[in-house]
Amino acid sequence: MVHDNGVQTYLDPKDAMQHLAEYNKADGLSVEEIMDSRVNGGLTYNDFLILPGYIDFPASEVTLETKITKNISIKTPFISSPMDTVTETEMAVNMALLGGVGVIHNNCSPEEQAEMVRKVKKFENGFITDPVCLTPNHTVGDIHMIKARLGYSGIPITASGKLYSILLGIVTARDIQFHEDHTTLLKDVMTTDLVIAQEGVTLEEANQILRSSKRGKLPIVNARGELVSLLARSDLLKNINFPLASKSPRSKQLICAAAIGTRAEDKTRLQKLVDAGLDIVVLDSSQGNSSYQIEMIQYIKKTYGNKLDVIAGNIVTREQAARLIEAGADALRVGMGSGSICITQEVMAVGRPQGTAVYMVSQFAKKFGIPVIADGGIQNIGHITKALALGASTVMMGGLLAGTAESPGEYFYHEGQRLKKYRGMGSLDAMERSGNFCSATLPAANRYFSDRDVIKVAQGVAGAVVDKGSIRKFVPYLLTGLQHALQDIGAKNLDHLKENVESGKVRFELRTAAAQVEGGVHGLYSYEKRLYS
Ligand code: IMP
Repeated sequence: MVHDNGVQTYLDPKDAMQHLAEYNKADGLSVEEIMDSRVNGGLTYNDFLILPGYIDFPASEVTLETKITKNISIKTPFISSPMDTVTETEMAVNMALLGGVGVIHNNCSPEEQAEMVRKVKKFENGFITDPVCLTPNHTVGDIHMIKARLGYSGIPITASGKLYSILLGIVTARDIQFHEDHTTLLKDVMTTDLVIAQEGVTLEEANQILRSSKRGKLPIVNARGELVSLLARSDLLKNINFPLASKSPRSKQLICAAAIGTRAEDKTRLQKLVDAGLDIVVLDSSQGNSSYQIEMIQYIKKTYGNKLDVIAGNIVTREQAARLIEAGADALRVGMGSGSICITQEVMAVGRPQGTAVYMVSQFAKKFGIPVIADGGIQNIGHITKALALGASTVMMGGLLAGTAESPGEYFYHEGQRLKKYRGMGSLDAMERSGNFCSATLPAANRYFSDRDVIKVAQGVAGAVVDKGSIRKFVPYLLTGLQHALQDIGAKNLDHLKENVESGKVRFELRTAAAQVEGGVHGLYSYEKRLYS
């Protein structure tokens, strides 16, 4: 304050907190103010920031437990998308081990999808439940091909070349080391003097047998002598504990979700998935507010009661949410046009900026205790934090988890970069899926196309993403980053975050285009962006 005599005086620093309390206007904007679309338009994650709060706890104390559906809680808010370049058995198993959930895609036959669900439910930490097997009539050349493609050469030999068939031997790197002739049959080189363990053996016992036998692999067989799983010496060190694992409280098996469509034949598919042990079904539709979906939700609730939770969607408005909640949805999947491979907004003119969509639907759904999944457009930890602050209980990721070791498909090189394919389920590429994996029907098409369409209009693209390594490192990176983000905001857990957003304690700020540039790396001649170590 400047007095008449020109002398400047200041308030006593000791009164700073009290002076702040006397201000009747908090800094920044409340969530309602920033999300008022009549004033600010529809916003997405990059359009705003969260103002920092007060830290009086370490980041490691932040917990991330949340609800994926009305009835099922998990320890981390991460879900992998039902896409054929993102979630099959390996992704679903590892997502569940790390505290999230994987949703197995349905761009395959019902039997193939049910088999993937079964493998997730049967998974036991440390045991390889889908080992590559060969028959005695395969050749040394086949082993070399597997080694080149998958990086290992210890292959069990069974009568049919498949799991659940009589175990006859095992071929290891040593058996073929000096074998020049690639046409030699495996029956002439395989080891038949086997050390095995019986089904039901604990991981600890099996590890002990593996150690004392000094073998590289330990086949596990059932009473009929059929191979049921395998233990690898190289995995011994990796068989760590997973304290956050998402498990059904009763069976202690990993939680598994899978996607289906809303056609009559999807009811038969669903029965197969339920028989395989499915916990959560996701009704996979790009516009979920339809009589087909409502009928399907009611059918599932009537047929399976509380044994199966239903995630309905996708939606972006309150009106869409109301119908699905009334029909019996246990969670809502929010996002239309926000996916990284998506061209829905461009082609169909429908959709909504993802921040606004998540906020509007969450505001409505929370009154009924229905959790929201923020699906699509998550590119980094900041986006995850913002989606959760806007009311989502979990985030669903496609592109961010594609290109990891656990996503389906093989790596390839392009201009020196190690890449994996990633494609939209509404891309023509996904629709035309064929070959060894897919059946004649193309369920991916159901999400985006109708039987009667003469011309198929694509709603997604096919592309590639760079190698991200294993989700065993990547998901813990997301988790630790999220703990730090919540610490910066001053929230110790996700409920705390939501309460403080609602009460207006957590404040927001709009970002201009220039602010967005400022918030990114800028002004450097060159730089390397390493995300974690
Ligand atoms: P991402 O995490 O931004 O890559 O988005 C993944 C999400 O995009 C998925 O969970 C789906 O909801 C959505 N999606 C998948 N395929 C397509 C498509 O072909 N067109 C539009 N959206 C898609």
